[in-house]
Amino acid sequence: MHDMKTFYIKTYGCQMNVHESQKIHKLLESEGYIQAESEDKTDIIIFNTCTVRNTAEEKITSHIGNAHKEKRDGRNLILAIVGCLSQRDGVSKSLMKKFPQLDIILGTHNISEIGAAIENASRKQKTIEIVKERKLNPRFDNLTAPDDPTKPNTHYINITYGCDNYCTYCIVPYVRGRVVNREITEIESEFIKLFNSIKDREESQIIYLLGQNVNSYICPKTNKNFIGLLEQLSGYIKNSNSKLNFLSSHPKDFSRELADFIASAPEIERNIHLPIQNGCDKILKLMNRGYTVEDYKSKINYLRKVCPDVKITTDIICGFPGESEDDFADTINMVRDIKFNAAFIFPYSRRSGTAADKMSNQIDHKTKKARTTELIKIQREISNQITLGE
Ligand code: 5AD
Ligand code: SF4
Repeated sequence: MHDMKTFYIKTYGCQMNVHESQKIHKLLESEGYIQAESEDKTDIIIFNTCTVRNTAEEKITSHIGNAHKEKRDGRNLILAIVGCLSQRDGVSKSLMKKFPQLDIILGTHNISEIGAAIENASRKQKTIEIVKERKLNPRFDNLTAPDDPTKPNTHYINITYGCDNYCTYCIVPYVRGRVVNREITEIESEFIKLFNSIKDREESQIIYLLGQNVNSYICPKTNKNFIGLLEQLSGYIKNSNSKLNFLSSHPKDFSRELADFIASAPEIERNIHLPIQNGCDKILKLMNRGYTVEDYKSKINYLRKVCPDVKITTDIICGFPGESEDDFADTINMVRDIKFNAAFIFPYSRRSGTAADKMSNQIDHKTKKARTTELIKIQREISNQITLGE
């Protein structure tokens, strides 16, 4: 039996992290641990972290600080930091310096070792380990995760890990590594297992296929591409109340064939998240995105033509280095022109080690914030108009 037996996971960031936290949850439960009601009433706190923007990092660091203070003041607590923030170069060292009582630091590639690390921690042994390559661990990777209690009808399956695109602002390729595609048979068996466990529910269910850039998926064994994968999986859920979706797609790989396939397959949910990132061609080029605003527009115009009930959402970054007032006006015009159903709009955040961080013409904090606020306001009006018109 463990001495320390309740755990609480605090998750930050994207669906990939939410999903990995669900797997940690399942793994620990299978080893006899019990989920605690709150972080105040638990033996173990696991922070599953994000590093995509500096604001996320600051929030997480302050939360870790609070828990660390309690431990220092005598609370019997195992503290674990896992995921993207710990994986970022130099962070595990600085965390240990700041918070010497941390018991566990694991990155993205060895997150599956959390069970053993907790065992060590209950014997007062620290596990501070960051590795450069993903350690495949079928016991963890092939777990069918439990439902997220806050969204019990939403389910996730990983199809790829990592990203090779190196958009110049983005830290993800550095903390999640090179692309690794899972084999289609593995995805398929996880999918069937999941579908069997939810198919009799009354509410409609949604299964997301996850990856940093799902539409560049290619099965390492069979060479089947993303459309082939969708075709195969949607076959299982025909005439059921489950739908399939995916996060996130990259516009450069969003083909007409994919749009045609979505149009032909009612099993695919009509909400497509397609991050454009900016509305100015000069900035898109500096971001290394591999498409122009016109390319993007022609792709979604086609998708809207073949699939008229589709809702399109996006991500936009304001204040990328070198973005002039005129460039920003291009983004405003693009947003007014495309009329997204919703957009997630953030100020550009410098990430050390990325190409954009080394660019000389950084925009000051105030301007970045002001542009973000202005664009959010414009998009809110558009989203409201669309909702009213429905
Ligand atoms: N600054 C601001 N936003 C960023 N994103 C990624 N990196 C950064 C950054 N350095 C945004 C992108 C991406 C979303 C997940 O986070 O818009 O699509
Ligand atoms: Fe980051 Fe670009 Fe990869 Fe998305 S596609 S994770 S924005 S590098």
